[in-house]
Amino acid sequence: MNATGKIVEARKLIDAARFEGKRVGFVPTMGALHAGHVSLIRRAREENGYVVVSIFVNPTQFGPNEDLSKYPRTFADDLEACKAAGADLVFHPEPDEVYPAGMSTTVSVAGVTDPMEGEHRPGHFDGVALVCAKLFNIVGACSAYFGEKDAQQVRVIERMAADLDMPVEVVRCPTVRDADGLALSSRNRYLEREDRRRASSLPRALRSVEEGVANGERSASVLLDRARQLLDADAVDYFEIVDSSTLQRVATVDGPVLVCGAIRLGVTRLIDNISVGGAR
Ligand code: PAJ
Repeated sequence: MNATGKIVEARKLIDAARFEGKRVGFVPTMGALHAGHVSLIRRAREENGYVVVSIFVNPTQFGPNEDLSKYPRTFADDLEACKAAGADLVFHPEPDEVYPAGMSTTVSVAGVTDPMEGEHRPGHFDGVALVCAKLFNIVGACSAYFGEKDAQQVRVIERMAADLDMPVEVVRCPTVRDADGLALSSRNRYLEREDRRRASSLPRALRSVEEGVANGERSASVLLDRARQLLDADAVDYFEIVDSSTLQRVATVDGPVLVCGAIRLGVTRLIDNISVGGAR
């Protein structure tokens, strides 16, 4: 496995692999890798001849009062995890390499960025779109693997790639969870023992909507009222049932929807979602 922080070096290695006829699989991450990330890398390994993982804690997607400086950094362990999962190249640039002085270009996706995370983290998706556009331009034509854990993010990236004719096939990968249902997240390690226990109320509340639908309830407000009572959190940023493609709120569940939630436990913010009523 190779590792580099330099764009020209990464391009050279990836171009050489492509010249050998290898398909390129790409997994963008911010490090602090866990089994969720590893599942993406393994999937990329199965489906491609050359696998690139990026590790970059992207400053432009953090708000001024968010956890950029405290974001977990476990680089040595991350390299081991990438190697064990079969990565060929880890691209781990410093902020200056990605954002040199004079950077003046922004990337902004409208519509699908408006609700939920977009509402609660202004500017977040501009940062995600910008860094992914840059990473896609560095890696080149590839299949890029994203987790459904961040359902809104994957839809933003799909929209951007389609709108800008990027030679990138976005692959959605299922959410990996702990035994009690909590979605794995780099931020789970911030949780104190008691908050870790309370955190599992988020997936329980999501599942209760699924059960309600299975039992014939179709009214979003009825389903949500019941589910919100199960949440054990210091604050609930949102808990919604939205159309699977547009991410607009629905009043009635009569097609594929996502149930999405964001809660706060102490200083830690957790998001999760499940799809109900089919894919898309
Ligand atoms: P990060 O939070 O490190 O996540 C990297 C990828 O792993 C994302 O596609 C995310 O959806 C996926 N992922 C996280 N937890 C998962 C889980 N429990 N199961 C399955 N997949 C999971 O998302 C980002 O980084 C950044 O926004 C990034 C796209 C790298 C741009 O900076």
